[in-house]
Amino acid sequence: MASNWFKRVVFYQIYPRSFCDSNGDGIGDIQGIISKLDYLKGLGIGAVWLSPVYKSPNKDFGYDISDYREINPEYGTLDDMKQLFAEAKKRDIKVVMDLVINHTSSEHRWFKEAQDPSSPYHDYYIWKDPKKDKLGREIPPNNWRSYFSGSAWEKNETTGKYYLHIFGKHQPDLNYRNPKVIEEVKDVMRFWLDMGADGFRCDVINIIYKDSFEDGTGNFTTIVGSEHYYSTEGSVRILKEIQRDVLRPYGAFTVGETTGVTIDAANRFINEGCLDTVFSFDHMATDEWRIPLFKVKYSPEKMKKSLIKWQQAVGWNALFFENHDQHRSVSRFGDVDRYHDESAKMLATVLLTLKGSPFVYQGQEIGMTNNKFKSMSEVKDIDALNTYQTMQLYGIVPPLAKKLAMNICRDHARTPMQWSSDEPSGGFSSSDSTWLPVNRNFRNINVASQLDGQDSINKYYTDLIKLRNSTNALQVGDVEVLDSHSQVLAYTRHGEETISVVANLTGKYLPAPEGLQGEVLMSNYSDDHGKGLRPFEATIYRQS
Ligand code: GLC
Ligand code: CA
Repeated sequence: MASNWFKRVVFYQIYPRSFCDSNGDGIGDIQGIISKLDYLKGLGIGAVWLSPVYKSPNKDFGYDISDYREINPEYGTLDDMKQLFAEAKKRDIKVVMDLVINHTSSEHRWFKEAQDPSSPYHDYYIWKDPKKDKLGREIPPNNWRSYFSGSAWEKNETTGKYYLHIFGKHQPDLNYRNPKVIEEVKDVMRFWLDMGADGFRCDVINIIYKDSFEDGTGNFTTIVGSEHYYSTEGSVRILKEIQRDVLRPYGAFTVGETTGVTIDAANRFINEGCLDTVFSFDHMATDEWRIPLFKVKYSPEKMKKSLIKWQQAVGWNALFFENHDQHRSVSRFGDVDRYHDESAKMLATVLLTLKGSPFVYQGQEIGMTNNKFKSMSEVKDIDALNTYQTMQLYGIVPPLAKKLAMNICRDHARTPMQWSSDEPSGGFSSSDSTWLPVNRNFRNINVASQLDGQDSINKYYTDLIKLRNSTNALQVGDVEVLDSHSQVLAYTRHGEETISVVANLTGKYLPAPEGLQGEVLMSNYSDDHGKGLRPFEATIYRQS
């Protein structure tokens, strides 16, 4: 558990591969990150979450780790990492590492050794014998599905057994019934804490312990089998042990990425001292984009309800509208064509004034949008690529398969950061061949021009973060939800000050809630209108 610093800072998530390329190979790197720390400081950021920089064969770009104690050479060296810790510390910016311990890469030494059943590493992973179907044909041990399409089991020819992979087949799940695995993980954590990390963002941490290996129920809208591993008793127990042995002695911070987490489970993880806070995903299901066949229209009502529900039921949330797995928020919940700036600023207002720890994802602070990928050959996300293939196996023609794959494609958030209007790559790299294409709107949407602009989204973020950083009520005050139209979010934060926020979640004119007055501290419209709410209008008031 960390002391309370995480309740006062604004976090910024860096996806290193796409943040800043210092050596012109088209791939972001650690020196690139170091070169932008002053920019983050200027934005008012107090902590950074670094997506994985560890050695990885990149099937899932760092979420498949082949060595927990090495830096992927594309990103730099351990010395670069030490320098990053030191430079961040100088600027009073905490560094939170990604901890990916549900699975390793199949290239990890442990997994290579594990294929010998007599090796002590065999039991680091989850192996089961095949089953037979009614016709006597061999089938996987159960019907669980992988997050990335297909069965969650892969046959290993060397052993004749199947191993479990909740994610890609190159991401075998570790066996948390083996105490040695837990000890290994603790050692890895100590290694990074000793080097200077302030905590961890714990990847899919609520699924590490599988309760049983029974068949799952569920259908195409859920992950079949997940009821046997979502937020189990075993995961609570293991997290408590890790807190006791590692996190508490170091005073280290943790935010759990908790997939499919319920309010009850979130409260258990937080209140029983497993994790400082968790990322929950209900509000990301307000447009159901994860189900490739059904791209449902975004529902502002659902967004409002979900945010309120979690604000009221959970003491300390991790707040976000974007990360490296999600589509760009202004493209999902805003209106890129008609109200790009207004809607991006409205989302910023909500993100930075609700109760909890806000996480800004790189590029969100300039309103970066989804990308128009010309063809599947530009796409690198394993989830989208597998979906594309699976759809075609079901007989769907390639153009439609592409459309469906793009509905879930995570590369929308992973195109390179747009630093400037410079050719060839928007200031991200000196090379014109970057690992993912730079969004062609970089000439209009980029950091440099927004730093100069008076009314820019970036300026708005900077002002808003400054306001939050200096306002007790916005940092730690209680939240009271105010009555308002079903598509308008309005609340008051009570602390040393009384601050009210109203946000129109739509591109329509809507009635303002009654009786909201006071000094306007910030608004995404410069003039006072006085007649209800304009499209995506958001205002922050100080109540006297
Ligand atoms: C988490 C990560 C995602 C990754 C998956 C498997 O959801 O955020 O990027 O693919 O876990 O590690
Ligand atoms: Ca590079």
